[in-house]
Amino acid sequence: MPSHPDCPEFYTGAPVDSADLRFRDAFLAELWETLRTRHVLLTAPRRTGKTSVMDHLRDFPKHGFTVIYQNVQDLTHPADFFQAILDTLHDQHPEIVKRLAQGWKLLTDTLNKVTEFGIAGFKIRLRDTDPDWKDHWRQHGDRFLDQVRKQESSILLIVDELPDMLFNLKREHPAVLREFLAWFRVQRQDPHPSKDRARWLIGGSVNLSGTLDGLGLVDLINDLDDVPLPVLADAHVIEFVQSMLARRGVDFEETVPEQLRAHLGRPIPLFMQMATQELYRSWKKAPRKLVSADVDRIFAQLVVSMAAQDKLQHYYSRIAKYYEEPRLSAAHALLGQISLSSAGLSRAKLMQEFEHHLAGAGQTIPAHERKQHFNQLLRDLENDFYVSEIAENQYDFASGLLKAWWKKYYA
Ligand SMILES: Nc1ncnc2c1ncn2[C@@H]1O[C@H](COP(=O)(O)OP(=O)(O)OP(=O)(O)O)[C@@H](O)[C@H]1O
Ligand SMILES: [Mg+2]
Repeated sequence: MPSHPDCPEFYTGAPVDSADLRFRDAFLAELWETLRTRHVLLTAPRRTGKTSVMDHLRDFPKHGFTVIYQNVQDLTHPADFFQAILDTLHDQHPEIVKRLAQGWKLLTDTLNKVTEFGIAGFKIRLRDTDPDWKDHWRQHGDRFLDQVRKQESSILLIVDELPDMLFNLKREHPAVLREFLAWFRVQRQDPHPSKDRARWLIGGSVNLSGTLDGLGLVDLINDLDDVPLPVLADAHVIEFVQSMLARRGVDFEETVPEQLRAHLGRPIPLFMQMATQELYRSWKKAPRKLVSADVDRIFAQLVVSMAAQDKLQHYYSRIAKYYEEPRLSAAHALLGQISLSSAGLSRAKLMQEFEHHLAGAGQTIPAHERKQHFNQLLRDLENDFYVSEIAENQYDFASGLLKAWWKKYYA
């Protein structure tokens, strides 16, 4: 526990509490401005702070919005989607649900039953009120938005991890996927967002455009305003390390924050927190003036630690989940090769490795298609922040920690 009363905790996985959120003021102000008139798609890779930003929107609403946050990662059908949204709305703003129920039989009946059976059963009652919810999702969705549009103030509906729900939908109800996306798009365009009482902020860690592009469905989301969550600046990383250590009374050489920043590479905020916390723990065990060599040691330890294993494994597994062959196994092979390099590999060398991999796997694909697959793979790896182009046509891991870990376990 921090000794200082106003010293923020280390966050190593859970979203940052809205009151502790740093480095996002300018972005939040800009995002609120966009949300006045537009629906937004908030994109960023894993563990970079999307949910923390969404929580902040919810906890400190602006422009008169009522805000609800809904994670839809495990949902498999649009019916679940509306039930979850109504349930959360009922939990957090029961007065709004009462107003929405006016003239809407489904919701009035549900609320009547809830009075009888207690508040905790809202979702069950909502489901029971229409045994054919799955067939009627569109009608209930339409009605929900109609009711929202009759209200005096606006509701911001934050939907986190929508790409995951779309993947579930594709797997379990493939025919409904396009229907849902098409319905959703129409709803976002009419009325015009600036005149709509319902505002959507959609987010997720999977590259939604890339995913839907692969399914030939990208035209169904291209109306959304694509807002990428900015990468933390080098100066933020330095400030973070300095303040987190200084506020805990840790003595360190001036070079320490910069050394940590250099190891981190592209700063994934979670890794920044984990490394700084490790540094603090090491000092706590043996109080002394921390030096650059301590940072080197911390990173070497972090790579083999259970905590990191848990967080990093995701980067390996997500390729199997979202990439398709022949790019899937080629991605693992190329990343293995890059992890062994000291300063990345050239595009030509990577293409060579790619060809070599395909031949080894017995893939017989015409040359022009191989080239296409390769280009797309490199683009995906860049978009998903595995690699970045560090110099012209030279690619290296974006995250220093991920590179060291990959080399240890998968090269
Ligand atoms: N502004 C910030 N300053 C410092 N650390 C941050 C910040 N935002 C996020 N983090 C770090 O990132 C971690 C993950 O944050 P959050 O859950 O908001 O990210 P996410 O992008 O939603 O992650 P996921 O992809 O798992 O859904 C936090 O536990 C914390 O370590
Ligand atoms: Mg999240």
